Amino acid sequence: MTKRKPLIAGNWKMFKTGPEAKELTSRLKSLVSDIVDVDVMVAPPFTALAVVAEAAQDSVVYLGAQDLFWETEGAYTGQISAPMLTAAGCSYVIIGHSERRQFFGETNETVNRKIKAALEGELIPVLCVGESEAQRDNEQTFSVVKTQLKEGLEGIDTPGLERLIVAYEPIWAIGTGKTATSEQAQEVHEFIRKQMETIGGNSIAKTLRILYGGSVKPKNIAGLMAKDDIDGALVGGASLDADTFAGIIRPCSHLAEGKA
Ligand code: 13P
Repeated sequence: MTKRKPLIAGNWKMFKTGPEAKELTSRLKSLVSDIVDVDVMVAPPFTALAVVAEAAQDSVVYLGAQDLFWETEGAYTGQISAPMLTAAGCSYVIIGHSERRQFFGETNETVNRKIKAALEGELIPVLCVGESEAQRDNEQTFSVVKTQLKEGLEGIDTPGLERLIVAYEPIWAIGTGKTATSEQAQEVHEFIRKQMETIGGNSIAKTLRILYGGSVKPKNIAGLMAKDDIDGALVGGASLDADTFAGIIRPCSHLAEGKA
């Protein structure tokens, strides 16, 4: 039996100045210091990466970025590369978040280039997929997610796929308070795992961690984590308060043993 260690990730989006991020990280670090069987990651804005890296030292809290650019360096005003993120202390990078697809022209093709750059830079990519409300209403959820996976992961080899994390974030559930039910999430997570078997084979599919994102709160995490194919969460709003975020992390401890 393969066990998948839960990962709870906080996407801070465009919230928290450096000093605020430092305070939040210090509080979080002390709240989760006894938890060893859950991976915790926070993705602050770029401007707070350095202070969060420092505040998270010697803790179970890993650092992630919210995006990157695919070139390593060059005349690309405003962009940040994988080597820059690694040097800042990041081990993870979120790629293809729906807000980047919606507001910043991210496509499956740019997502694919970014995933390759992240892997090249020794970062763990967290690939975000998910359908809009209209797509769900038109029963396009599976076809949308399938295309996002297929095109986003085009040409990525086995060692790369072994490092990948996928986050299923239905757009209609992000920041709306409308969480997908555990059953709705499980159905898509199971589908994602099947697609990953087609893309990378059985062993990749079995070990892949698939996170759910969209209005995750302390009150709904246990129900989500009880599902076979839900291995963690990508949390937005509820990760901006240390006590609330810790209230999502703690119920995920001592769960891994039960999952196939
Ligand atoms: P909320 O948890 O605020 O719904 O955001 C989810 C998300 O987009 C995480 O990346």
